Amino acid sequence: MLTFELLATDPASHARRGRLTLNHGVVETPIFMPVGTYGTVKGVMPRSLHEMGAQIILGNTFHLWMRPGLDVVRSFGGLHRFEQWHRPILTDSGGFQVWSLGAMRKITEEGVHFASPVNGDKLFMSPEVSMQIQTVLNSDIVMQLDECTPYETSGHVTTEAEARASMEMSLRWAARSKAEFERLENPNALFGIVQGGMFEHLRQESLEALVAMDFPGYAVGGVSVGEPKDEMRRIMAHTPHRLPAHKPRYLMGVGTPEDLVEGVACGVDMFDCVMPTRNARNGTLFTRYGDLKIRNARHKTDPQPIDPSCTCYACAGASGVPWEAGGREGFSRAYVHHLDRCGEMLGPMLTTVHNLHYYLNLMREIRAALDAGGYTEFRQRFAADRARGI
Ligand code: GUN
Ligand code: ZN
Repeated sequence: MLTFELLATDPASHARRGRLTLNHGVVETPIFMPVGTYGTVKGVMPRSLHEMGAQIILGNTFHLWMRPGLDVVRSFGGLHRFEQWHRPILTDSGGFQVWSLGAMRKITEEGVHFASPVNGDKLFMSPEVSMQIQTVLNSDIVMQLDECTPYETSGHVTTEAEARASMEMSLRWAARSKAEFERLENPNALFGIVQGGMFEHLRQESLEALVAMDFPGYAVGGVSVGEPKDEMRRIMAHTPHRLPAHKPRYLMGVGTPEDLVEGVACGVDMFDCVMPTRNARNGTLFTRYGDLKIRNARHKTDPQPIDPSCTCYACAGASGVPWEAGGREGFSRAYVHHLDRCGEMLGPMLTTVHNLHYYLNLMREIRAALDAGGYTEFRQRFAADRARGI
């Protein structure tokens, strides 16, 4: 099941405010989806995710198929109970992850043959297998199996002919995914994925063919695959707003806070990216006034929290009163820097909470601006704040 309601549209851009209803709950859009590849958003308890306002999280077909395997997840009736996250889950199909295996795999029309990175077993992933796995996972949003067209492969930039062949195979896999999804009587929602590389006319062909197949939602894939930033932005400006207005649009694997704010203006409703969680573990933290590297020696004695304007548990403690409003319960930069130096587990836990809170709060602010009809002003203030520096 999936219903999508458009609540407001921005007259000055393609931005929309929407509400997505799925089998495990309601998702207010635009939304950022934290990534939980192995059935866990690394270092964060589901309770904290909920407190931070996460509405839907990602899981990964490929990884969960390798470990713990389908029998274990099936015995729990699906991924929700296994990982104790009872709100919506979206699972990626495995296309992107299998592709990332590089030399370890062989892609054919039928599907992808590869050696298990866990034990070397010979395995086969097809559109049908991906649908069977995602049906066991019982994810609210299932992604079609696709081939994520690379920007370049060992220095060779993908040609138009290569991008076309790849995009056309993804269309055939879309049809096979849909047929198998329906045969399995999966009660959730299946999204098609637009491919076409960096070629706008191929993107157009891909989206038209997918729209003719009538999916309940659509993703734009094959971006953030090593292309220059302006190429990603060009495809982001080209494709999402051409998809049906009354269906949700998901831009896969994007991106920075700036990408999210501009992506919304391009008509995107849903985003996911490892950036907030991965960067947190590397000590790169997002704040209203720009990015901060907590490993830098200048933070060694700083009593301020990561972001004085932030209400997250790391910055404002349990009271949620930010430093700049007089709250003094947050953890200092000096302390987070110390935890990082010592390799203590609490370090990445706090920085992950902060970065995810930043992303989720940014989306809340975007939704509020769209509700109030002031998205243009929001974009300007956001850019000015981020350029100020911290
Ligand atoms: N994640 C990021 N990009 C992609 C893509 O093109 N396809 C899939 N399946 N997942 C992605
Ligand atoms: Zn914070």
